[in-house]
Amino acid sequence: MEKIIVEGGNKLRGEVNISLAKNSVLPIMVASILSSNDITINDAPDLEDVIVLTNLLSEMNCAVNKNINGDLIINTSNIKLVDMNSELIRKMRASFLIMGPMLSRFGECKISMPGGCNIGTRPIDLHLKGFRLLGAEIEIGHGFVEAKAKKLIGNRIYLDFPSVGATENILMASVFAEGTTIIENAAEEPEIWDLANFLNSMGAKIYGAGTGKITIEGVKADSLKGTTYRAIYDRVEAGTFMVAAAITNSKIIINGANEEHLRPTIEKLKECGVKFSGAGENRILVDGTGQKNPVDIKTMPYPGFPTDMQAQMMTLLSVIKGSSIVTETVFENRFMHVAELVRMGANIKIDGRTAIIEGVDSLTGCEVKATDLRAGAAMILAGLVAKGITEISDIYHIDRGYVDIEEKFRKLGANIYRSNN
Ligand code: UD1
Repeated sequence: MEKIIVEGGNKLRGEVNISLAKNSVLPIMVASILSSNDITINDAPDLEDVIVLTNLLSEMNCAVNKNINGDLIINTSNIKLVDMNSELIRKMRASFLIMGPMLSRFGECKISMPGGCNIGTRPIDLHLKGFRLLGAEIEIGHGFVEAKAKKLIGNRIYLDFPSVGATENILMASVFAEGTTIIENAAEEPEIWDLANFLNSMGAKIYGAGTGKITIEGVKADSLKGTTYRAIYDRVEAGTFMVAAAITNSKIIINGANEEHLRPTIEKLKECGVKFSGAGENRILVDGTGQKNPVDIKTMPYPGFPTDMQAQMMTLLSVIKGSSIVTETVFENRFMHVAELVRMGANIKIDGRTAIIEGVDSLTGCEVKATDLRAGAAMILAGLVAKGITEISDIYHIDRGYVDIEEKFRKLGANIYRSNN
């Protein structure tokens, strides 16, 4: 079984290059279904999730190729409606985003229920509410969901919760819908803006993405051109390295960090005592050498504190003297890393959706599991400061969302490697 082994105690130094955002590239790959022309996605991150989606698109008879620069070139002109009961769909929740563009292009889509990280029940009711309001009929059977529409017609869609996936799926479904679609209480995450920007570069007419109200003026089906697009930087990867600097009392430069997108994480780390300074465009110097303070965190939809940074921050708080409180409001089952941190000596108690953390002097390395993607990153962070050796198993979760993570940490001076034993 593959493991990541970390020997704690090293300080970090130097620079790390952040990859482009997984959570932008996945919806952008899926949105390429809306055009029959060549789509080039620059510098697509080499991630397991991107491979899964590449395989899924290939199963649907799309051409997906990578050139020597690492760009993905997608052509969906020969796309076929195939049995969407694929294992690949169950593997990754983001694959459910295929429904919006497929419904838009073919007027129908039948797909098995999505999988993904086990961080909550993760329903799809808001996606389906949007499709229904656009005129689709929905049928839910054993393990599958089917949407059909003779014609999609623009409508006003209010989301009870600003779900990222639902906003993206509805956005893609409404690109060719007749008339105007308005999504209210839309998710405001930077990746939504990125998806809309990509679609607009092909000729879609989407306004207000990145705010709570998105307006889509339907354009003619088959009218979207090809495009070449570069996604935004991965704010969660950048945030993870910021926490790494803080937890190891180090100073590092992060290349590929959009300060605006990282604002919620940066502000919380500043409250903890970490210092930041600009080091050029999308370059941030993180100084984690100072005294640290405990803080309280509540995860919220953007621009609130991201749930995808919760496990990493909790790891940092577990070694900061004093009491911190972390409340998870976005997913109901996102404290699985707590048991692993406790195994390493952390003092954390859970009460419902709240974790109470009493900072300890040190963590001790042991065998732990990556219980989900970000929890896996949190285990690496814990390993960086733990006494002795931390062996992390189930690292396929980490590979879904972090490019060459151990290599990036090794370049910064960490003692970390992958083992096959
Ligand atoms: C996306 C991100 C993920 C991140 C999450 C929240 C991708 C590929 N993944 O996931 O990394 O953690 O946003 O920032 O971009 N919900 C419903 N009904 C729905 C849809 C969602 O109740 O129809 C609930 C979910 O159960 C969850 C909350 O809304 O409690 C947030 O989910 P959502 O924003 O949809 O997250 P994802 O798009 O799955």
